[in-house]
Amino acid sequence: MNDLAAELRADLAATIDAGDWRAAIEAVPREVFMGAAVYRDDMDGWTPVHKSEMTRTQWLKLVYRDTTWVTQVAGVTAEEAPREPVPVKRPTSSSTLPSLVVRMLRIAGISEGDKVLEIGTGTGYSTALMCHRLGSGAVTSIEYDPQIADRAKTALAIAGYAPTLVRGDGLHGYPDNAPYDRLIATCAVRTIPHDWVTQVRDSGTITTPMLGWTGGAAFAHLQVSGDGTASGRFLARSVYFMPARPHAAPPLEVIELGVGDVSHTSTDPSLLTDDTALFVAQLAVPHAQHAWAGKILTLDDPGSGSHADVRPIGDGRWLVHQQGPHRLWDEAERALTTWLEAGKPNQSSFTITVTGDRQWVSLNGSGGLSWDLLA
Ligand SMILES: C[S@@+](CC[C@H](N)C(=O)[O-])C[C@H]1O[C@@H](n2cnc3c(N)ncnc32)[C@H](O)[C@@H]1O
Repeated sequence: MNDLAAELRADLAATIDAGDWRAAIEAVPREVFMGAAVYRDDMDGWTPVHKSEMTRTQWLKLVYRDTTWVTQVAGVTAEEAPREPVPVKRPTSSSTLPSLVVRMLRIAGISEGDKVLEIGTGTGYSTALMCHRLGSGAVTSIEYDPQIADRAKTALAIAGYAPTLVRGDGLHGYPDNAPYDRLIATCAVRTIPHDWVTQVRDSGTITTPMLGWTGGAAFAHLQVSGDGTASGRFLARSVYFMPARPHAAPPLEVIELGVGDVSHTSTDPSLLTDDTALFVAQLAVPHAQHAWAGKILTLDDPGSGSHADVRPIGDGRWLVHQQGPHRLWDEAERALTTWLEAGKPNQSSFTITVTGDRQWVSLNGSGGLSWDLLA
């Protein structure tokens, strides 16, 4: 009976070209980490899919797909959810698709002999892969959500692994087991927590997805220096991960709209449908959230009560309304213009530097232009 799971693991390892993580993918039983139900993404909602309603073969085939299986939406696990689609809400925990887990582990350069801190245990699957390769004693993993943390602890024990598991906010790291050779996060941060920098050894690395409130995503890989600083770059392909819970965008409040200042622009706001353009705009207006109403772009920063909207008026021109202390469109447009003039470089042309009291992103070759992330 167990042979089918082993066969599917071997197929998965081959399909995703697991390389030096092949033995771990072939050994770790993903079904143990998936629990009794997962959510299926139906685009207009999340439908719980229960193991008890499938044959074992069907369930195992689902488990070993190279897919992210969402296990919790808005704090409700798939097992507890009513047996009907949950309206579109933010997923809050998942088992990341194995090919992406392996890609991240490779980018982090994790190999035998490394001591690793993982932020975002989730189901515990990626934790188990690292335990398999490095030994449980080398792995520490932190999970914010107590229920998810308990489930991962049970699953890891069933699979025969005993890493240090911490319930709490991974943004503070876990100093008791520091220094770490590698820190890897599977939830996305807005800024790099300085505790991470101080808990990773000199020349160790931090590999983390980043996600800002404007929706710009990036994948950062930094090297730590012994003087409490870290620097690195973004990878060419960004990845979208759910936000670290304390870094999630606040709910949008309705901003009282007046007419505001009126101006015109010839910068097409639909640029923001490009991942790098959105990342660039976010550097300029990190507190703003963006939305589309048809072809009208809105930028809202409820904290400062600033608002901008940009709507087409034909002939390659757009009408801009702005109000509040920040001219959100003007600030975003300035950054976009710099990026356009530099020839629309990919995210891999940007660098990130972190010190005790500052962190900034710079664009290579733009005359030292940089944006402060803690501003
Ligand atoms: C994409 S899931 C993790 C996937 C997991 N590594 C796996 O393979 O199953 C992200 C997890 O990060 C957790 N998380 C979010 N913010 C966190 C924080 N500040 N500290 C620790 N965990 C956090 C979420 O609760 C969620 O379980």
